[in-house]
Parts: sequence; C-alpha cells; structure tokens
Amino acid sequence: MKHLLSAADLSHKQAVRILDTAGQMAATQAREIKKLPTLRGRTVVNLFFEDSTRTRISFETAAKRLSADVINFSAKGSSVSKGESLKDTALTLQAMGADAVVIRHHASGAPHTLAHSGWTHGAVVNAGDGMHQHPTQALLDAYTLRRHLTGAGDPSGRDLAGLRVAIVGDVLHSRVARSNVQLLHTLGADVTLVAPPTLVPVGVEAWPAEVSYDLDAAIDTKPDAIMMLRVQRERMSSAGGGFFPSPLEYTRNYGLDARRLAAMPEHAIVLHPGPMNRGLEISAEAADSPRAVIVEQVANGVAVRMAVLYLLLSGSGATTETNETKVDA
Ligand code: CP
Repeated sequence: MKHLLSAADLSHKQAVRILDTAGQMAATQAREIKKLPTLRGRTVVNLFFEDSTRTRISFETAAKRLSADVINFSAKGSSVSKGESLKDTALTLQAMGADAVVIRHHASGAPHTLAHSGWTHGAVVNAGDGMHQHPTQALLDAYTLRRHLTGAGDPSGRDLAGLRVAIVGDVLHSRVARSNVQLLHTLGADVTLVAPPTLVPVGVEAWPAEVSYDLDAAIDTKPDAIMMLRVQRERMSSAGGGFFPSPLEYTRNYGLDARRLAAMPEHAIVLHPGPMNRGLEISAEAADSPRAVIVEQVANGVAVRMAVLYLLLSGSGATTETNETKVDA
C-alpha cells in the first residue's frame, strides 16, 4: 500500500492489519514515555485546506509519537489566499522533503490528484475530501467497534463479522458514512443507513447497505451500534437548506435522545465522528451517556493514525524494534 486514499482501496487483510497494528500502537501509548523512534528522520506534512480539530491534531500527535518531523500547513493564513494552486503548494512542500502528505481538502478527489500527479513523491493520506472519503475516520470507528463488541480487550485477528451498525442522519453530505459503509462491509458488518429521504444520496441502492427512513424502527431491530452523523449545515444553503422542514422536526424524527437510547440493546454503543451538533442530531443525555464512545473514538484515532503512518512509511516487510515493543510492518 503506497497511499491511503479511500476505504474502498483496503482489502480485508489490509484493514485487519491496520487495526492489529493500531492495537500494538495503543499499547505503547499506555506507557509513561509514549514516543517511539520508528519514523525518526522522516517528514510528515499535514496539508489542511478545510477546517479540522480532531483529524489534524491526531495526525500531528501520531506523527510526533513516532518521532517524525511534522510540518503543519493550513490554507488559512497561507499563500492559498493569494490564489496559489494545489500543485504549487504541493511542489513547495515537496521541496521541504515530505515523506508523507496528509491532506484534507474541500474538493472530492484532491488526494487522488495529489497522489497521482507527481507533485509529491511521498505517501498521500486522505484526511477527508469533500463529500467523498474519510478513510482514517472509518478505521478508527472500526477499531472502536472492535474493542467494544468483538471480545473483551483482545480484538487481535478479529473482524466485525455479523455486527449490526446503524448509520443515522445526513448521509448525503457525509464522507464518514461513505467510508464507513465500505470498510464495515469489507470487515463483515451489516450496515443500515437511516435518514430522511432528502438526505439519502442518489444511487444508494448500489451501496452494500440497507436503507431505512424510520429511526425508531431501526432501533427496534436491535443494532449493536448506532453511529450518529453530523448535520452538515455548511454544505446546505441555509439552516436546513430545504433538506428538512425545521431543526425541531429533524430532531424529533432522527435525533438520538434519552428515550431512543433506552430503547437500544443494553450492550449497544453510540458513536459520532464529531464535531457534534448537540440538541440537533444528538441530545446531551445521549452524547454524555456511558454508552457513548465519542471521546474514546478521538483517542483511538491517534493509535490508528500511528498505524497508518507506520505501515505506509516503514515499508512492507520491515520490522522495527522499539525499546520495549516489536512492531511488524
Ligand atoms: N471527525 C472529524 O473529521 O473531525 P474534524 O473535522 O474535527 O477533523
């Protein structure tokens, strides 16, 4: 694997390898000294053309924990505001010697263009492109599901076969949903998308997922996990953009609240990629309940991104000895 551009590019074996490696990385992060020498001398560029809190910080943390040099580039405050193109920005960063470029861009396909353009010689990692893909989010979600639902604390070697996951909300605008549907299918889970008809993408019947327009009915089918999606108001022309009559009605029909939480199976967990619209797609009771693993998803993101950077940069077949842990790439 030279780049990570889409969850669809991952075979079952590659996905499980990343999740297993993330488990090893997580074990190193429980130590007092969290830093590994693995990527010493390598340079990771974080190239963010779109806002981010979790993804940007966790890629930076992951690269630093692996001892890579990190260059953070944010389009805001850069020469992009003077009209500089993606090509010239990439060539400038390549001149600094990037071994990996982590890119978030508002345009679907920008990471693919970067990976195949020759503008950078490094590995390209998609940190979210338009409404298209967010593969490391899907990987950290799968890692979180695996930890909670596939066996007590020892997820090694397991996939998500037979798990039932409901993905609820603004599917239309969600790269998280697209990546999750593909990766969860690869890992053997059964996915149901739950959304108002206006927020279901055209062509969804070709996706490996069921579609429901009724959240209460979907909860009655006893899913193992519910993944709430953010209503992406910035991708709608006004507050609801005509996609739903009013925020109140959206919450009533598709919001996860205390009543719906109580109707879920006892073992079921609640995920949300963040940032959350509290009071719209998820109530404070649901977001802060013990069944919500939303903060843990963020922590797991560091281990998963360490695994991705490690596997991309250390080369297939390489073995790296750390002070206390052997990690196979
Ligand atoms: N989940 C996610 O991508 O969050 P950020 O936009 O804060 O990175």
